Amino acid sequence: MIKTIEWTDQGVRMIDQRKLPAVEEYPVFRTYAEVAEAIRSMVIRGAPAIGVAAAMGVALGLRDSKAKHVEELRKDFEQITSTLASTRPTAINLFWAIERMKRLFDELVRDGADRRSIAGHLIEEALTIQAEDIENNKRMGRFGQDLLPDSGTILTHCNAGALATAGYGTALGVIRAAVENGKRLRVVAGETRPFLQGARLTAWELWKDDIDVRVISDNMAGTFMHQGLIDAVIVGADRIAANGDVANKIGTYPLSVLAKQHEIPFYVAAPISTLDLKIPDGSHIPIEQRDATEVTHIGGVRIVPDGVSVFNPAFDVTPNKFVTAIITERGVALPPYEESLRKLSVGGPAGRPDAEKDS
Ligand code: MRU
Repeated sequence: MIKTIEWTDQGVRMIDQRKLPAVEEYPVFRTYAEVAEAIRSMVIRGAPAIGVAAAMGVALGLRDSKAKHVEELRKDFEQITSTLASTRPTAINLFWAIERMKRLFDELVRDGADRRSIAGHLIEEALTIQAEDIENNKRMGRFGQDLLPDSGTILTHCNAGALATAGYGTALGVIRAAVENGKRLRVVAGETRPFLQGARLTAWELWKDDIDVRVISDNMAGTFMHQGLIDAVIVGADRIAANGDVANKIGTYPLSVLAKQHEIPFYVAAPISTLDLKIPDGSHIPIEQRDATEVTHIGGVRIVPDGVSVFNPAFDVTPNKFVTAIITERGVALPPYEESLRKLSVGGPAGRPDAEKDS
């Protein structure tokens, strides 16, 4: 399995996703500030992977804190978490992971634990978050693969694979599970301008796994659907509102509209940690605006005339009416999502019989 992210005594090692597929490099980020910068600059990306990186960043920062007493340690903790929280606003897994680390920190301080033991427990917690993510993806895969045809072509967007998680992937995890189960699937990966996660990352990891993958430019999807060449669409998510509206990589929304028009099922695969049930609908999801150079340049070469402005929203919101089902590690949610997501979030039945399979 690809090692997206790893804890080491020297710091957090990550595969540098900005350089793939040309160069496979695993730099070590030695401070929490370096980890934060790695998240911001997309060395590591994908909502669940960002969450794991943030948890490891918190643990690293605390381990290396020079604080002499607990009040100083708390100040450091706040500085560390606010730096990490300021990196990418849309992926809720970032805030979920920081919150989980904070709960444990508060508990340990309350219990009078010393600095060394607090740091030790936080490192363990970050490793648990990482291990749980892989486990969750495999469970998601077992639920989701049932929804895919025995043979056919699946369109995906961006990268919701091993590289976007601690391993195995969400949307690509479902595809992996289906292939492992003997289904004969071909994947069509939209290139995903401007950062090209589809062309560079999805193509790379599926190719490494010997899964049949073809890349298309984003504007080809409609034609392929019209020609009857796509049997299902499956994507990941950065945040899912209580009503099932889904924020994911820019370009997901138009695919969902096209899928509806062509009567093709449109699936979203995401862990429970991607649910944001505090917000009623997608209009409350903060959309990250990224640097203009991602649009004006490709591979360091300017393609937009100098002096011309661009837009670069990193995510869009797909309304729940275009989402056929949401696949999680606790089962598959079907519309109406207010009800099915709420049930899943408290560990209840998933709204379809498959949920019982994963007891
Ligand atoms: O900007 P990115 O590359 O972090 O965006 C990633 C996505 O949009 C993924 O589809 C999403 O995070 C789900 S990853 C399992």
